[in-house]
Amino acid sequence: MSPAAVTDDASLYDHPDIYEAAFGAIADAEETAFYGGFFAPGTRLLVGACGAGRVSCALSDSGYSVSGFDLSGEMIRRAAENDPAGRYEAGDLVDPPFANERFGGALVPLLGFAELGDPASARMALAALANRLDGGGAILLELPVCHDVRSVQGMRESFDFDGGDYRFDYLDAAESNGYFTAVHFEIRVRSGERCARRAGKLAVYSPEGVARLFEDAGLSEPRYYAPGEFDSRCAEPPPDCLRAVAMGRTAR
Ligand SMILES: C[S@@+](CC[C@H](N)C(=O)[O-])C[C@H]1O[C@@H](n2cnc3c(N)ncnc32)[C@H](O)[C@@H]1O
Repeated sequence: MSPAAVTDDASLYDHPDIYEAAFGAIADAEETAFYGGFFAPGTRLLVGACGAGRVSCALSDSGYSVSGFDLSGEMIRRAAENDPAGRYEAGDLVDPPFANERFGGALVPLLGFAELGDPASARMALAALANRLDGGGAILLELPVCHDVRSVQGMRESFDFDGGDYRFDYLDAAESNGYFTAVHFEIRVRSGERCARRAGKLAVYSPEGVARLFEDAGLSEPRYYAPGEFDSRCAEPPPDCLRAVAMGRTAR
């Protein structure tokens, strides 16, 4: 397909070049140091929903031994090109690849985990990730976390980037129980003449919802870190928080 033929109907995750134009091909030094700071140098890391390798590739460049997987074959092909030192396979968070291996840590950056829009799949995925870890290994999930999960309906985030714009809409709720709200969401990315979208269900968790999720997977109590303010650490996400990195550890 020629670049000009890409339309609004194109799936964002089938077009790594458009994704990279919006979100960057590689994480910057601050974000890389933030994720890397949870793990000893050289740790074997499992990166779920790694996309085109934005974070996994940066960690691999920093000396971590990275194995990444993603549902999208296009994204995973790009990740392998971007990071020849890493290992990449197509795979689903609810049944991760590299099944016979154990890792020192696992992470799911930038909302891939939240796209498991129902609690049963999220529980299954987190248990599967925890099972892949050595004792004491850390798991980091970037999640939308909100004290009042019902209030996210109708929220909108947008920003302009060099040559394009990005819009994220939290649409009507699909399901809500006080611990989480599944919203229909839509991301639209425009880069020059090209646009693509992603629509689906996204789970937004309350702090109690995250605590239950972690407890079910046998992880220690979650600690929160605010993405973008990488030196912050809190036992509870801030009142107006919409994104958090939640961290837990497997038992030793
Ligand atoms: C917002 S992108 C984040 C990509 C990457 N982690 C980053 O930081 O740029 C979300 C990614 O999650 C992947 N994804 C969504 N659901 C998934 C699932 N069930 N299993 C594996 N990957 C999934 C998508 O294919 C997409 O590449």
